[in-house]
Formats: sequence, C-alpha cells, structure tokens
Amino acid sequence: MPITADPQQHADRRTDKSESSVLRLVTEDDLHDLEILDKEVFKDLAYEGHYLRILYNLFRTTWWVFECEGDLAGYALVGVSSDKSEAWLLGLAVSDPHQNKGIGRQLMERAVKVMVDSGVAIGKITVRPDNAAAYHLYRRFDFTQDGEERENYYLNGERRKVLHRHFATA
Ligand SMILES: CC(C)(COP(=O)(O)OP(=O)(O)OC[C@H]1O[C@@H](n2cnc3c(N)ncnc32)[C@H](O)[C@@H]1OP(=O)(O)O)[C@@H](O)C(=O)NCCC(=O)NCCS
Repeated sequence: MPITADPQQHADRRTDKSESSVLRLVTEDDLHDLEILDKEVFKDLAYEGHYLRILYNLFRTTWWVFECEGDLAGYALVGVSSDKSEAWLLGLAVSDPHQNKGIGRQLMERAVKVMVDSGVAIGKITVRPDNAAAYHLYRRFDFTQDGEERENYYLNGERRKVLHRHFATA
C-alpha cells in the first residue's frame, strides 16, 4: 500500500476514485469528512467541528487518515504532551462499511510508530469497558490496563479503562 504525506498527491487522488487505499497525514480539507465520520462512529461523544479544528491546529503532524477509493475510511490521532513525557491516542475510528478489513490495525501501527518516534516514555489510551473490538486491538499492541477502571473519566458519567505502554527511550 502506498504511504504518502504529500497534500498535493492527496488532492490529485481525490479526483481519481480508482486509487485503492492510502495512509496519509490529515489535511485541512479532511475536517468536514472527519466530523461526519466521528458522528457516525461515536454519536453523541463525537468531537464537535470546532474541537476538530483545534486538534488539527495542534496535532496535524501526528494525525493520520486512511483513505479508501477516495473516501475517508478512518483515522488515528496522537497528541504528545507539552512536556514530551507521554503520548495519548486521542482518537481512533474506522467507518462502519470499512470495519473488519484490517484498517484499524494499520492505523494503530502508525499511531504506535508516531508515539515511538516522538521519544516519549509512555503511550496512553482510554477505552470504554464494553468496547471489545478496540480493547482487543490495543492489547494486540501491548497496551495494558493502568489500575482500576476510572469512574466519570470524561465528566459524562461513563467509566473508562486507561491503558498504557512503556517505550524504551535513549
Ligand atoms: C476499534 C476499530 C477502530 C477497529 O477497527 P477495524 O478496522 O474494524 O479493525 P481491524 O479489522 O483492523 O481488526 C483489528 C482486530 O480487532 C478484532 N476485532 C474486530 N472487531 C472485533 C470485535 N467486535 N470484538 C473483538 N475483536 C474484534 C479483529 O479480529 C482484529 O483482531 P486480530 O488482529 O487479532 O485478528 C473499529 O471497530 C472502530 O472504529 N470502532 C468504533 C470506534 C471506536 O470504538 N474507536 C476506539 C475508541 S477507544
């Protein structure tokens, strides 16, 4: 599969639906499609458009999208803390029609590479306790649960598992 971060190549590709799939860095043009994808997948917990814009401004160099035949099929968003001590998986999603085809795994591979390349000592992820697919995927990438499940983690009354993985640093 070709991998590119070149926005111009991305623009060319959008007009060519015959192109199969590509993992590439997010561009500003993706924000609208990301808002739709997030609402489809996360419903009322989706990132609002204005928040996606903020995330883009801060984390566009660590935000990867997977495009299938010109459609935005999924994304993985990593945010590195300002003290560079840890990196968080701030979002991972694959749209319904594209799920169970290995795209989540490819996005997760890239997210872990981003974490390692950023030089942080620890990667972190939160997941709903009932999200078997995501939890399975994170365990496959050696993330393990950090203590007890956390009540009301995002101040919305829901529980979350917090997962972590240590990385070797120089
Ligand atoms: C979690 C998600 C990203 C996985 O993406 P995907 O493209 O469907 O996953 P893949 O096809 O790459 O499969 C990855 C692994 O998950 C497993 N898996 C998929 N659905 C599963 C399920 N319902 N229960 C358990 N395992 C599941 C696959 O078998 C595969 O395991 P393997 O590597 O051991 O064979 C996707 O289901 C999704 O976007 N869900 C909704 C949003 C979400 O929950 N995001 C995570 C928030 S923390």
